[in-house]
Amino acid sequence: MINSDGMNAEGKLLYEGKAKRVFASGKPHILRVEFKNSLTAFNALKKGSFENKGHINRDIASLLFQELNKEGIASHWISNAGDVDMIVHEVKIIPLEVVVRNTLAGSTAKKLGIAEGNVLAKPLVEFYYKDDALADPFVSDDQILMMGIATETEIQELKLLAQKINQTLKRIFAVAEIDLIDFKVEFGKDHQGRILLADEITPDCCRLWDMKTQEKLDKDRFRRDLGNIKESYEEVLRRLKGKLS
Ligand code: TMP
Ligand code: ASP
Repeated sequence: MINSDGMNAEGKLLYEGKAKRVFASGKPHILRVEFKNSLTAFNALKKGSFENKGHINRDIASLLFQELNKEGIASHWISNAGDVDMIVHEVKIIPLEVVVRNTLAGSTAKKLGIAEGNVLAKPLVEFYYKDDALADPFVSDDQILMMGIATETEIQELKLLAQKINQTLKRIFAVAEIDLIDFKVEFGKDHQGRILLADEITPDCCRLWDMKTQEKLDKDRFRRDLGNIKESYEEVLRRLKGKLS
């Protein structure tokens, strides 16, 4: 449904993902994103949910987007609305999952046969091609160019942004006594072609270990059936709120 201004009518569902739904806001180039209570892993082979997850993740993401903004990193975040929504700039997502690793864990540790927990001398930036049917495969810079996903200049810009985001997030989480092991971010282009940090930054797409105990406070608790998933997400929000307000 398009209204008289050629905009999608307010409240129209435009896209439904695994953890979020995107709605038209009724305003040009502005959307509303709703964080759902659902939780998936392994390309949605494993499904779950917990009460209040949408609210917790919306609050964590918005806190982090605002902190990053203070450091000059532009994101799609404009404001929060209600309990589980954020108002964002409309972007066309660049189909790359940009992963930054400070400590080896997860897929790269497994692929290279290196034990989890090895601290890297320098943060590693990796690109994965966002395609559920292909299960988000790793792609090299040359493969990105070959596919026409991004230009050489854009690849360099994404790497630089990823490193800068990592520096800021590492500092913020350290204040909350959390080690940022790795994370995934996505970027999009707004209607003027500007690259903005988009999607979300939450315990769904980060590995967060308690600095003292090394206890996992992220989605690995769900992936690996470690229990206390909700409590861990709440703990991350509680610590960030305590330190950032
Ligand atoms: P990985 O070790 O499975 O490659 O994941 C690295 C980090 O990126 C981890 O914090 C989880 C996050 N991630 C996602 O959020 N979604 C994804 O599709 C992938 C591949 C990683
Ligand atoms: N792409 C995976 C998913 O479907 C990532 C993960 O295991 O978290 O959720």
